[in-house]
Amino acid sequence: MSTQPIELTDIPPIQLARRARYLMCPPHFYDVNYVINPWMEGNLHRSSRERAELQWRNLYRALTRLIDVELIAPQSGLPDMVFTANAGLERSGTVVLSRFYHQERQSEEQCFRQWFQEAGYTVVELPTDVPFEGEGDALFSIDGSRLWVGYGRRTARESHRFLARALRVEVISLHLTDPRFYHLDTCFAPLDDGYVMYYPDAFDAASLEKIEEYYPLEKRILVSEEDAIRFACNAIHVDGTVVLNCVSRELTGRLESAGFRVVQIDLSEFIKAGGAAKCLVMNLATEKISLNL
Ligand code: ARG
Repeated sequence: MSTQPIELTDIPPIQLARRARYLMCPPHFYDVNYVINPWMEGNLHRSSRERAELQWRNLYRALTRLIDVELIAPQSGLPDMVFTANAGLERSGTVVLSRFYHQERQSEEQCFRQWFQEAGYTVVELPTDVPFEGEGDALFSIDGSRLWVGYGRRTARESHRFLARALRVEVISLHLTDPRFYHLDTCFAPLDDGYVMYYPDAFDAASLEKIEEYYPLEKRILVSEEDAIRFACNAIHVDGTVVLNCVSRELTGRLESAGFRVVQIDLSEFIKAGGAAKCLVMNLATEKISLNL
């Protein structure tokens, strides 16, 4: 048997790749146990745990084809913990932990704090009287150069200065005016390739101007009320794929003509609590180190 000598130049660069990761929480204790947003009204204990498990698993399966997903253990008595977008906001290894506005969700803070610390993140916390609901209300522009942060419903405007300092990023404040779209991620989604998808009526005029100043007309995907209430803007995007609840053919067509692959997953059980695809995930560090030997 002859062996070929290996040239050093033949060895491909080693990828110590930590792919982008998401944090999710299985819905074993999910339910609508209280009313803290208009979607929950009339839905107390009306969700099916079985269907929720199935829908969540469909989302989990679709995402794990695209990205790594970490799981946090669900806790009994914390039915909204499944919405991990509200755990906090991460950037370069630092997590700003959420301070929930409603007492009903405040016990989640301890669970998320512990998970982030054990996973090696630096956890920073806001003053106790300043509500902030994590990635649910704070979304980076695709290039990471600015942070869009909602206020008016859950997250206090006072938190914005703190976020700018803690994460060293420019913060643009957006005022949420429609109680149905109480978190920024229910009505606004920065997408790949400089696109943005949003429901204009959820914002005041000054906020709309800020959005329009940043995103040129041809990059704005405006969503109708009909799609907005199907949580169309509550979309996850990974490398050109947009994952969202079932929406109109018209909207999927527009996303496809903008070059996106669209994956629709029925998340109706979670809409009963006021959340869909994006609410069910939190972004964790994207970090790629490649060593050329
Ligand atoms: N029932 C939850 C709440 O009202 C839903 C959270 C949805 N999360 C989100 N990121 N929009 O807090």
